[in-house]
Amino acid sequence: MFKKVLIWLTLTVLSGGGVVFYALNQQYEEQSAEFRILYRDITVKLSQNDVILALLSNSSDPAVVQQKFPYILRWQTKPHEPPRPDINPARAGTYWINSPQGSLLIDLPTLLADFVRTQKFRHFSLSWRGTPLLTQGAEGKGDWWRWEKEVASPSQPLNLAVTNNPDWRGLPWLMLVLVGGFWAAAIYFYTQYQMTKRQRNIADLRAHFSELARLNAMGEIAAGMVHELNQPLTAILSYSQTAQRLIAHQQAEKAQPLLDASVMQTKRISALLLAFREKLNSEEQPLQPVNLREVWDRVVILLGNEIERGKVTVINHTPETLPPLIASPLGIEQIFHNLLNNAIQAQQQIAQGKAWVEINASETANSIILTVTDGGPGLSEQALEQVFMPFFTTRKEGLGLGMALTETLVQRLNGSIQAENSAAGGACFTVIFPLTQKGA
Ligand SMILES: Nc1ncnc2c1ncn2[C@@H]1O[C@H](COP(=O)(O)OP(=O)(O)O)[C@@H](O)[C@H]1O
Ligand SMILES: [Mg+2]
Repeated sequence: MFKKVLIWLTLTVLSGGGVVFYALNQQYEEQSAEFRILYRDITVKLSQNDVILALLSNSSDPAVVQQKFPYILRWQTKPHEPPRPDINPARAGTYWINSPQGSLLIDLPTLLADFVRTQKFRHFSLSWRGTPLLTQGAEGKGDWWRWEKEVASPSQPLNLAVTNNPDWRGLPWLMLVLVGGFWAAAIYFYTQYQMTKRQRNIADLRAHFSELARLNAMGEIAAGMVHELNQPLTAILSYSQTAQRLIAHQQAEKAQPLLDASVMQTKRISALLLAFREKLNSEEQPLQPVNLREVWDRVVILLGNEIERGKVTVINHTPETLPPLIASPLGIEQIFHNLLNNAIQAQQQIAQGKAWVEINASETANSIILTVTDGGPGLSEQALEQVFMPFFTTRKEGLGLGMALTETLVQRLNGSIQAENSAAGGACFTVIFPLTQKGA
């Protein structure tokens, strides 16, 4: 704001100064012309005296001369003796002009009465060798402009000098106000233009960004889908192949639980697809009271194949008194699924029967704290920092989306998740869910 005022002031002063300079120059030119006219008129008037002096003779009747030329006070036909200056300021406003034919005593105020009365300069003076003969107006020492010229007459080389001040009130004040207004308007419209341009740019950026975000979200959903569907499909494949083998060996009755597990995994796929479709339609998952203990047990069954293959001991230490959490059941299932799956995968190199995963839960006044700890090697320093970043993975077949999705799901319930290593060296994930007030 201050900067704009400064720019406005600078522009106004510069262009206003130009206007004032031009107007003053105009006034000066006009008055110079007036001075030239005044000078010419006075010169003509004075040179008449030389003509009169030449025409006068001893026989001229003084009364007639006085009547015709009231400004001639005295005259004589023979030059003064002893010689005196050509012009003799005998008394204020009168002077002698001398020539070989004779002398005239001129009364300047009477001679120039008409000019002096009509001239418009502040200060007017006719002087001879520094002695003023006729002055009018203020002293004129501090005045702005001064014009001076000697009358081109051999007998009366009087000095004409006038001064004047600019006519301040005659300056184009309205124009100056308009100039200030013009610059204010120009700056205003320029600022406005810049602002709309910036807003348009921001709007463009935002549209571009939301388009990117949409594409990104779609990519994430697709990648997440691959991640989530991979495990149950693998499980179904292995259950079905085992069932085929059993039936081929006439042990059909043993195939029953495998087919049951297969059905369960298929239902999970169906639920996941439903959830994905809802996500695409950006419908919120319905929230309902969820028993965390039960969901964990379900996930253990879903990952039964992997647990069995890795000979992993899974310990559920969640208290039975744990209050239900208001959440989407499938969301919680996905969180547990990812945590347990990672813990199993991290312990593939562990000696047979030594691998373990433990879930623990405790309740505080307004939250539920869950910890999932395992007996694996734990997270590397880099993994501790980046485990929740999309596409961070240290596994060859890994996508690096499991923990990123988990964090998103936890945050959707206003919870938080943290990764660290336990004292024994294994990974320990802590999830904190706030308990929403009943009825809220
Ligand atoms: N329980 C764990 N023990 C050790 N490392 C883990 C554990 N959980 C996750 N990590 C590390 O975090 C990385 C990211 O995990 P995740 O997001 O699930 O992606 P992915 O499983 O596809 O690699 C893993 O590659 C692994 O390095
Ligand atoms: Mg994973």
